[in-house]
Amino acid sequence: MSLSTRAQAVSLSVTLALDARAKALVDAGRDVINMSVGEPDFPAPASVQDAACRKVRSGDVRYTPAAGSRALRKAIADHVGRVRNVEYAPEQVCVCHSTKHALSGAVLALVDPGDEVLLLLPAWVSYVEIVRIAGGVPVDVPSRADCGPDFAAIERAITPRTKCVLLNSPSNPTGYVWTSDEVRRLAELCERRGLWLLSDEIYQRLVYEGEPFASPVSVSPGVRARTVVLDGASKSYAMTGYRIGFAAGPREVISGIERLHSHLVGAPNAVSQEAYLAALTGAEPPEVASMAAQFDARRRVLVDALRELGLNTPWPRGAFYAFPDVRAYLDERGTRGFCEDLLEQHNLALVPGTAFGVDTHVRLSYALSLDKIRGAMARLAAFLEKHPRREQALARAAAKL
Ligand SMILES: Cc1ncc(COP(=O)(O)O)c(C=O)c1O
Repeated sequence: MSLSTRAQAVSLSVTLALDARAKALVDAGRDVINMSVGEPDFPAPASVQDAACRKVRSGDVRYTPAAGSRALRKAIADHVGRVRNVEYAPEQVCVCHSTKHALSGAVLALVDPGDEVLLLLPAWVSYVEIVRIAGGVPVDVPSRADCGPDFAAIERAITPRTKCVLLNSPSNPTGYVWTSDEVRRLAELCERRGLWLLSDEIYQRLVYEGEPFASPVSVSPGVRARTVVLDGASKSYAMTGYRIGFAAGPREVISGIERLHSHLVGAPNAVSQEAYLAALTGAEPPEVASMAAQFDARRRVLVDALRELGLNTPWPRGAFYAFPDVRAYLDERGTRGFCEDLLEQHNLALVPGTAFGVDTHVRLSYALSLDKIRGAMARLAAFLEKHPRREQALARAAAKL
């Protein structure tokens, strides 16, 4: 095989691979509950669907400028301004094929081979691979036990080669939402040490309680000149398949992303741009708040159930994931083995923590109906009850109380 070293080094996204495995089992007739996928189970808002249909039927579906249509860049700039309380010009926005694409554009625009990028673990699956594809060096930074930031560990990880820090609040996989103090502290650290801050804010609309979402660009004006905000339509608007998102930040970086994308993808999908424009223009589609309320209700049911099963689960304030600690149940195969057994024996698909850089926890997505969540918890209970390490795990949990 003459595959490039780059292609050989990259692995298929674990979450997408698991989702494919769960779907294959369903096709084979198995009744699988799939909690592995981070995808809202709702349709996109009606106004979004109508806008997409209108665009297709207009017959005028053509290339747009590489950074997206002028109308959408302006709508995104206004939206970012409204939500983060800062002013952005349309030229500071590059519409991208998705948030993933915006993130890879920002990394390619900023990271040179050998540059180090700090990943605050547990970190979303694609960060490490995107950094590697750009020739950068991912540097793992552990977090606190409650999944919040460990600033001493962040400071220790910084070297003269450190270029960027990747922030993701609310977090996939933990649901942890950084407080504004924590965000400010990180922003100040980036300013002081001359680092770029890539802020993946895809779950910003999904914060269910406590302090509201804080973006570094809102809490720390000084860090705006070295922050790229990444966000998109997938999660808040249930528009995963539309593949549309954006990067917003200093003009120079945005223009770098635009130039890269002009060769790599040409322009984002024109139909999805119109659909996203409809989502962002005028009042928020009513479905968005209704979806968030349903995620919130599911979150409470799921986390309570996990805790009742004796699994230590950090309380997630945002996104749609729970991340229980399953250490007591692990054998030498780690969380991967735990998830394989659960899927094979009880038809329940979860994601092993190794996908996020930690082999102690597993991720459950609650982007599925309450009935399915309850069914999934019954399966997990049956699995844990018969587990060879059950007694030991219960004793450990009791010792901690
Ligand atoms: C933290 C995080 N960032 C980015 C993405 C990608 O979003 P998009 O569908 O816009 O590419 C996801 C999707 O799961 C995510 O969890």
